[in-house]
Amino acid sequence: MEKVRLDPNQLPPMPVALVGTLAEGLANFMAAAWITRVTIKPPRIGVGINHRQWTHGRIQETGAFSLCFPGPDLVEKTDYCGLASGRNADKSAVFDVYYGDTPGAPLIRECPLCFEVVLDQAVDLATHTFFIGEIKTVWADDAIVADGKIAVEKWNPLLLTMPDNRYWTLGNHVADAWSVGKALKKGEAK
Ligand SMILES: Cc1cc2nc3c(=O)[nH]c(=O)nc-3n(C[C@H](O)[C@H](O)[C@H](O)COP(=O)(O)O)c2cc1C
Repeated sequence: MEKVRLDPNQLPPMPVALVGTLAEGLANFMAAAWITRVTIKPPRIGVGINHRQWTHGRIQETGAFSLCFPGPDLVEKTDYCGLASGRNADKSAVFDVYYGDTPGAPLIRECPLCFEVVLDQAVDLATHTFFIGEIKTVWADDAIVADGKIAVEKWNPLLLTMPDNRYWTLGNHVADAWSVGKALKKGEAK
């Protein structure tokens, strides 16, 4: 197979979230996909946010944010939250908002999975800040939970690909992680 060189701005598919913040008592939500889990204990997650986003200053002010993961039914509203800025648009009524334990982390009732996150570190990267926070509480619809865990086959997260800028849903279960490679690992030890 021929290998071709590409522009470095290529990415694998990413789950899409809505980053919820609070500004003067009003909830604001922005679409985000540059999100990754960074540690397990404590459960930390990071999100890369451009300095120009309204959300950026709100996280700095309150030290908190939420991450709510929409399904494909919310694709239009999610995209709107990635097009309009809280600087000049009131996005507080786009979703049915509720609160858990963290006052600066508004949550979205229509999203099957939401995290309340308290800011831990902010890594400044010139155009963006990588906000790392601790996941304090997780809320899930009981319909997507089995044995106290998210049952992915019952859930339908929204994914994004870039730079073609398209939304997708999840494909098929291929194999079990930390498991399917065991036979090869045994071979390695011989
Ligand atoms: C699908 C999607 C994903 C996005 N991901 C990010 C992201 O990870 N980081 C970021 O800074 N902006 C991202 N954006 C852009 C912001 O959502 C957009 O600029 C938004 O209007 C900012 O809202 P705010 O000004 O109310 O914070 C994304 C937009 C879309 C449509």
